[in-house]
Parts: sequence; structure tokens; C-alpha cells
Amino acid sequence: MREENFLGTSPIQSWYLIASSRELRKNQILGAQLGRHKVVLFRNEHGIAGATDAYCPHLGADLSDGCITQGKIRCAFHHWTFRVDGKCETGERNATSYPVMEKHGAIWLFNGPSPLFGIPEMDQMHATILKPRVIRAHPHLLTPNGLDIEHFSSVHGIHFSKQPVFKTEPFGIAVDMEIDLNASKSFRMARLFAGNQIRAKFYTLGGHISVIRANAGAVPLHVMFTHRPQPDGTSISRTLLFFPEKMKAPSTLYRFLSGLFLYFIVRDDVRLLEKVQFRSENLKTGEGLALFRDQINQMETMA
Ligand code: FES
Ligand SMILES: [Fe+2]
Repeated sequence: MREENFLGTSPIQSWYLIASSRELRKNQILGAQLGRHKVVLFRNEHGIAGATDAYCPHLGADLSDGCITQGKIRCAFHHWTFRVDGKCETGERNATSYPVMEKHGAIWLFNGPSPLFGIPEMDQMHATILKPRVIRAHPHLLTPNGLDIEHFSSVHGIHFSKQPVFKTEPFGIAVDMEIDLNASKSFRMARLFAGNQIRAKFYTLGGHISVIRANAGAVPLHVMFTHRPQPDGTSISRTLLFFPEKMKAPSTLYRFLSGLFLYFIVRDDVRLLEKVQFRSENLKTGEGLALFRDQINQMETMA
């Protein structure tokens, strides 16, 4: 029987955030796990980034032990060298290479032959990338948390003005929400700047990216969560906070309020999700998490 992609160890073909752009300097090589696969990301002396499988197509040395020379990555073992597109000019076999993109101040890798979709656009916003965090839960439990409508009231004390409706999109599931601040006790303070309700959109993309877009009055809440699967079933998670470009340096107040919001939302989710022994069979047809699971199971995995 085919292994399910959902909660599986073979990563689906998607964009994965590997590092912030600043964390990959010229002439640097970074190794990174995508589930049980290892890849290397490198930047040559001209500033161009490339990514290949970590294990050399010759005898399998780990290319993250190599170096950058004349624009290429060189294996430490027998010195085969590979261009950023994986082409080998010194041996008979090319390395499998992957598309790389720099966006929102981060380097993303697509673990398939060519990208099937783009990284979410965040028009006229600039990003602040938070430090990586290891969460002891599979990305497929973390990414769709905003689709689990039921837990908003039981875990976060958030109530909706009307029942949220799910929409299946190419490679993602979306939901529009209207948060009733009068009924949501823990967030009543937000009425001071947001009025009686907050309209928010939550959506997933490719199984490892999720986005919240909301404005609580004048306070922007635009957040992207990314999770990269590790071989032991945990995730390396990075959060990007977005602020309107016109706010050249987002004020301490905005950062504080978005940080506070994230802290309260994410803290309780992580505490529970790190201990969950997930029972996928109890999901009901049509609910957000079931739509997410079914979509993930139809996606291509890494070769
Ligand atoms: S193992 Fe890489 S060149 Fe031989
Ligand atoms: Fe949550």
C-alpha cells in the first residue's frame, strides 16, 4: 500500500524556507534536511545561489563538506565540481539540482524539477524573519492549525461572528474569518484599536507554508509560518512578520502588538501539538483539516 503523504517522511514537492538571505554568504555552503532527504544550498562568489542533493553523484560524499571554487561547488572527496544548475564539468554525472528563489529576505528551495506554484506575494510589505525554532511536531500538524476552526474557541477563546467557510485552492486551503471581539474574552482589549470585529484570511500553501492576513484597526497582522520536516518527525519552523513598506521602520508598538498576538496564539497550539498522537481517521468530510489532508495526499513527493 502506498504510504500517505500526510504525516509521512517523504516531503511533498513544495517551497521550503532553508535560510534567511543573510545566513547564506558568498562562498558558503549550508546542508539542510527535508525529511529523510538532505540537500545543500550554496552561494558562489558572484552571489548566485544554487541547490543540489547533498550526496555527490560520484561516490556519495556529503557536498556540504566541499567548497566553492570558480563559481561552482567542489566535492571534498575527488574534487568533482558542479555548477549552480548541477552540471558537472569534471566527471560523468551531474548532481540533481533544485530551483532556488530569494524572496521576503529568505532563500527558498523547491524540491522538484520545476516549481508547481509560487511563494505567496505580500504586496507592498517587507518582512522580518524570526529565528529558527525546533517544534516537536510534524509540519502537517502545524501548517493547517488555522483550518481547525473548532479549536479557536476552546484553545484561544476566539469566537466568530459567522461560520467560516473553506475554499480549496490550487495547492492550498483558505478560510475567511470574522472574529467577534465582544464575544472573544481574551482579545477584548483589542477593541481599543480594532473596533468590534477583525476580518482575517488564513490560507495554506504546499503543505508547509501558512499565512494569516488581517488588520486589527491600524495594526497590521500579516504573518507567514513555514515548517521544514526533519528526519525524526519534528519541524524547523520560521516565522515571517510583514509590515507595510510605508512603515519604513515598524514602530516598537507595532512589533510589540504583533509579537504579543503571536505569542498567545502560538504558545498554546505548540504545547498541545507537540504531544498529539494524531487520529486522521476521525476527521469529518468537508472540514478544513480533512480538506488539507486529502490535498496533501494528492501531491507529488520528492523523487
Ligand atoms: S565522491 Fe564526490 S567526487 Fe568522488
Ligand atoms: Fe491555534
